[in-house]
Amino acid sequence: MLRKPNIVRPGAAVLVVLLAVACSAVAKRQDSKGDSAKAQASQPGAKEKDKGAVAESGAQAKEDPSQYVGAETCATCHEDVAQGYEKGPHWKTTLNHQGPQWQGCEACHGPGKAHAESADPDKIIRFPGLSREESSKRCLKCHEFGQEHANFLRSEHVKNNVGCIDCHSIHAPKIQEKLLKAPQPQLCYSCHKDVRPEFSKPFHHKVNEGLINCSNCHNQHGGFLTRQLRTTAAQDQVCFNCHTDKAGPFAFEHAPAKTEGCVACHSPHGSSNPRLLRRSNVNLLCLECHTFTVDSAAPAIPSFHNQAQKYQACTMCHAAIHGSNSDHFFFKP
Ligand code: HEC
Ligand code: HEC
Ligand code: HEC
Ligand code: HEC
Ligand code: HEC
Ligand code: HEC
Ligand code: HEC
Ligand code: HEC
Ligand code: HEC
Ligand code: HEC
Repeated sequence: MLRKPNIVRPGAAVLVVLLAVACSAVAKRQDSKGDSAKAQASQPGAKEKDKGAVAESGAQAKEDPSQYVGAETCATCHEDVAQGYEKGPHWKTTLNHQGPQWQGCEACHGPGKAHAESADPDKIIRFPGLSREESSKRCLKCHEFGQEHANFLRSEHVKNNVGCIDCHSIHAPKIQEKLLKAPQPQLCYSCHKDVRPEFSKPFHHKVNEGLINCSNCHNQHGGFLTRQLRTTAAQDQVCFNCHTDKAGPFAFEHAPAKTEGCVACHSPHGSSNPRLLRRSNVNLLCLECHTFTVDSAAPAIPSFHNQAQKYQACTMCHAAIHGSNSDHFFFKP
């Protein structure tokens, strides 16, 4: 991810400062093989760098500047595309002073001299002709920094041949902000058809209503957890980002909330049962673990929990079911 503080919507003053920073970075790097990580790290807020940057810029350093013509030349023949480019965010690449391979059209399409002279479409990089992994790598040379995108090449998406350009459109985005091909959740539903009905169930997280997004819980750009789930800043369950009261720590934890996670009892997308519960009857949910017959870490219900109580919700008495600071049996918070 490109850190916003760097270059987003710079006011004139910020721009001057940035240019000065960039220039001094170039000067400092003159004999350091064009190490982009260093140059960018000298900008405020760009601390999250990794080794990939060094390797990539090493390769870039071999580029021959004379093979590049600059965006103005491309614009003479591709007027429409160039207009859209100027409205989008990528014109900002011209603020990068590390060489033409980082700037304008050719930062993505590669050196364009041979193509500009011949107008031969085979002499320029065309994204649809690349594999999704290859085309995504072209974007990642600038966007892989920081947690948001660092794991893209490990993601379920790229492993299944879904790349940046399946969700983003550089030249003709439906949603200008973030250059998206479609708004969420429609974008996600276009492929995840089986997920859509879950959010139409009577009880559901209000994703279709626009209250929260798929990307609040999932990192569509990949991550370390299964299901590409996000975590909190403390690497805890994604649910705690919003349901902070359930995070504890509690003096008396209800073990499954920690060991199996919230999804032990809740369906995260949607459910036919109130409170997004996995079972229509709370008692059946509890008795999946708290029984004599199943081999489980959970203690079986005491014998005085008789037949009559079968009809009484367990949570009538064990009300603080997510954990308690005062009661071993979760009778009260
Ligand atoms: C002299 C005019 C000219 C210049 C300058 C030029 N192009 Fe082209 N470009 C063309 C023509 C003609 C085509 C073929 C169009 C077609 O087949 O529809 C083309 C095709 C392309 C394609 C493939 C389009 C497709 O449909 O797949 C890309 C990408 C492209 N140009 C990018 C660039 C870039 C980037 C530059 C600047 C480095 C550039 N062009 C400069 C004339 C030019
Ligand atoms: C941030 C990366 C990026 C930049 C910068 C960029 N392009 Fe593209 N360009 C793409 C991608 C990706 C596609 C393929 C679009 C698709 O398949 O959805 C593309 C497609 C094209 C095409 C094919 C026709 C079309 O409209 O899809 C042309 C022509 C083109 N680009 C020219 C240019 C020119 C000229 C510039 C500079 C003014 C430029 N591009 C800047 C990424 C970029
Ligand atoms: C040469 C470096 C470079 C390359 C290559 C590049 N980008 Fe970017 N991208 C940028 C910069 C700079 C911005 C503007 C960042 C800002 O405004 O903070 C940007 C912005 C974006 C944004 C909008 C971010 C927002 O917050 O609205 C998206 C989406 C994006 N790029 C996707 C892509 C995709 C997809 C590709 C590959 C086809 C790509 N980029 C290739 C440098 C690059
Ligand atoms: C499965 C769809 C999908 C794929 C694949 C994808 N993106 Fe995104 N991307 C999104 C969505 C959706 C957002 C907007 C999230 C939001 O609104 O918070 C986004 C946001 C962004 C942003 C804005 C910055 C930010 O953190 O919000 C950038 C830059 C970006 N993507 C670049 C890329 C690049 C580069 C690739 C490929 C390496 C890529 N994306 C692949 C869906 C995708
Ligand atoms: C172009 C099609 C496409 C789009 C668009 C798309 N996905 Fe995916 N996604 C896939 C494929 C294919 C897989 C891997 C196979 C699977 O698990 O379904 C996948 C996997 C995932 C997974 C991991 C599932 C698992 O079992 O580990 C999550 C989570 C996910 N996508 C979320 C999203 C979100 C959120 C969006 C919207 C921002 C989105 N996807 C947009 C095609 C897509
Ligand atoms: C409130 C958080 C949350 C939201 C919002 C959310 N998900 Fe999920 N999603 C999860 C969790 C948690 C799992 C893992 C479920 C499990 O392990 O049983 C999951 C699982 C998945 C899977 C894996 C297959 C499956 O169905 O279990 C896909 C694909 C997926 N989500 C896509 C999406 C899409 C697309 C959206 C938006 C339309 C979305 N999710 C919104 C939390 C969320
Ligand atoms: C981005 C914020 C956000 C995240 C992350 C989130 N939730 Fe929610 N959740 C909400 C909001 C807002 C509501 C209440 C509004 C609504 O949707 O009706 C809610 C409602 C619920 C409810 C129903 C409450 C009721 O009174 O009926 C349950 C259960 C729940 N969430 C569980 C989870 C679980 C489990 C996770 C993790 C997989 C999770 N939530 C992640 C925002 C979030
Ligand atoms: C052992 C099963 C179980 C686990 C694990 C669990 N819950 Fe619950 N949760 C319930 C039950 C049962 C209810 C309904 C309580 C009621 O009806 O009084 C509930 C209700 C809720 C509610 C709505 C009412 C309220 O108290 O705000 C939210 C939100 C919620 N849970 C979030 C979570 C989150 C977040 C996690 C993960 C930390 C989690 N739950 C883990 C069983 C569980
Ligand atoms: C996924 C399995 C699971 C589910 C579902 C579950 N529990 Fe538990 N429960 C446990 C485990 C494991 C313990 C911890 C036992 C320990 O600490 O030795 C526990 C502990 C308890 C305790 C404290 C017992 C003690 O001696 O410390 C009570 C009371 C309890 N659960 C009630 C419930 C109720 C009521 C429900 C339904 C709302 C429920 N549980 C659902 C697994 C589960
Ligand atoms: C009428 C109130 C009430 C209801 C309803 C109730 N319990 Fe209890 N539960 C208790 C009491 C009282 C204790 C014992 C506390 C003690 O030993 O001091 C207890 C203890 C437990 C224990 C701990 C057993 C142990 O050996 O540590 C579990 C587990 C438990 N209940 C589960 C459940 C489940 C599951 C349900 C629903 C089927 C349920 N309870 C319904 C009042 C209730």
